[in-house]
Amino acid sequence: MTTYPVNMSVKPEVKAFFDEATWTISYVVKDPESNKCAIVDSVMDIDYAAGRITYESADEIIQYVQDNDLEVEWLIETHVHADHLSAAPYIQQKTGGKIGIGEHIKTVQDVFGKVFNEGTEFQRDGSQFDALFTDGDTYEVGSMKVFAMHTPGHTPACMVHVFGDAAFVGDTLFMPDGGSARADFPGGDAGILFDSIQKVLELPDDMRLFMCHDYGPNGRDIQWETTVGDEKKHNIHVGEGKTKEDFVKFRTERDAQLAMPRLIIPSLQVNMRAGEIPRDKDGNPMLKVPVNGL
Ligand SMILES: [Fe+2]
Repeated sequence: MTTYPVNMSVKPEVKAFFDEATWTISYVVKDPESNKCAIVDSVMDIDYAAGRITYESADEIIQYVQDNDLEVEWLIETHVHADHLSAAPYIQQKTGGKIGIGEHIKTVQDVFGKVFNEGTEFQRDGSQFDALFTDGDTYEVGSMKVFAMHTPGHTPACMVHVFGDAAFVGDTLFMPDGGSARADFPGGDAGILFDSIQKVLELPDDMRLFMCHDYGPNGRDIQWETTVGDEKKHNIHVGEGKTKEDFVKFRTERDAQLAMPRLIIPSLQVNMRAGEIPRDKDGNPMLKVPVNGL
């Protein structure tokens, strides 16, 4: 078992940006000791019906970074998202910083490289990203030491990134009343997801947890922040008293009824390329739709 360098005395400033079109929360995480920051899970806007890509959401983050004189050191993807497109390269062009994701991106690239018949020019070695993280890897944002925990289950490459007392859980967990994310995408596994969630719940009870998504269950307002202690007590899928067996049964039955995310086809093609839009043989940005391929 990996021992993680938890340091609850570091308390980063966290600014959240909620994207209404995809229910995604992006974050700017700032070192309390300097103007250095990281951006977690940014969003590129798409009108899929029109094939139109725009950058209002990303521009809002860039504006925030500039207004606060922040220096971006990292652009983190918690995983290859299937429901929104990453804006990491667009933001990187304007702010600098390195784009990082979990090393198991290679598995994801292998699976979806086949689904989208990408051919040999599509590298499946993660080389589109500036950094690939392994379980327990650390990196710096100013004076903060950040660590990454491998938390597969929703996808093989999922990682939770922990900055002091603030953990960015991606789709490993939802808010306590939202439960957990689906585990039925290729490479997903409900049992593995349960084990990964247990790893997150072993962090200190007062660790702040920041979600990648919230859907406002039962009509409540959108929320994105909770704690380990709160999830342990109240999470409707994995909280007190829930067994792995219960979870796998419930998750498998629920997932069988879920429709594909609206943006899965463009999202995977872009996000497995670290947010770059694929190009056709003449160099034009172009997306594919594999018929009955998913
Ligand atoms: Fe996801």
